[in-house]
Amino acid sequence: MRRKVTVIGAGNVGATCAQEVARRDYADVVLVDIIPNFPQGKALDMNQAAAVLSYEPNITGANSYEETAGSDVIVVTAGKPRAPGMSRDDLVTTNEAIVAAVTRAAVKRSPKATVVVVSNPLDAMCHVAKAISKLPRERVFGMAGILDTARFRAFIAWETGASIKDVQTMVLGGHGDQMVPVVSATTVGGVPLTELVSKARIGKLVKRTRVGGGEIVNLLGTSAWYAPGAAAAQMVDAILLDEKRVLPCTALLEGEYGIDGLYMGVPVKLGASGIEEIVKLRLSAEEKRALRESAAAVREVVGVLTHK
Ligand code: NAI
Repeated sequence: MRRKVTVIGAGNVGATCAQEVARRDYADVVLVDIIPNFPQGKALDMNQAAAVLSYEPNITGANSYEETAGSDVIVVTAGKPRAPGMSRDDLVTTNEAIVAAVTRAAVKRSPKATVVVVSNPLDAMCHVAKAISKLPRERVFGMAGILDTARFRAFIAWETGASIKDVQTMVLGGHGDQMVPVVSATTVGGVPLTELVSKARIGKLVKRTRVGGGEIVNLLGTSAWYAPGAAAAQMVDAILLDEKRVLPCTALLEGEYGIDGLYMGVPVKLGASGIEEIVKLRLSAEEKRALRESAAAVREVVGVLTHK
């Protein structure tokens, strides 16, 4: 039987994620948005693309949640994106109300679903989805680390002239400018990055990664969607195909990495049960300090939430 994936928010990130999932052809996709006709129009376009790209035309657009009933995975992308000059945290009040409303409506009809949060500020929105859904932490988590890691991998590939496929790394922490690219766990074809690139150059790549979202917001006037949509779809794959991928995801920490009661980006093993393990990575003293600083920044944003 085909699986069912609901993507809430048919905007840039949601539509990209929906089409990425549809192209895999193992799941039916329901795309929900508050704007009348908008998700229906996107779904119709994607269903017609199916003839060219070879997948079954099983995407449904909706403005309500009846069609979403019985979903296996719910991806939450509804909410405002950043505009130039804004930090992700500036979105907190507007997007808290949206994420709370859509999570409540969707989980009511799909109580067995796994929820992947994408809306920003990501770490805080995971707290909202967890509080509203009351699902266990294994089944409510966020997408940010795959995107931040993808950015770091692209910069390293350009710097070293090596294929992006051979760049292995992890970006941990909150999805803000204090995120922690883990240089000590970065290799190119198995060779430590520190043996290939000078410390000063690595510092520049780390800095560009941390403000990588802002770089795109300044170019486009809104936030990125190709990489974020593909990253969310990769998480859907890992869950529904029970892949046991070790990916950086935003998980509720309960003492891991010395952090308690806070959603933060850490490596996790993702499979059919959602987060099946929080993977412990040995960090340098500097990386541990950076992670603590990132946690403090996330705690500040979470502090203003009503649902936490
Ligand atoms: P967008 O503006 O293109 O799409 C958002 C969609 O949400 C709109 O179509 C809007 O009508 C819909 N929406 C708003 N309220 C709704 C509601 N109550 N019910 C259903 N739909 C509703 O924005 P975009 O670029 O797709 O970004 C979506 C979110 O994802 C933003 O909060 C953005 O900051 C975040 N984001 C997160 C990333 C991450 O790494 N976690 C990366 C990129 C974006």
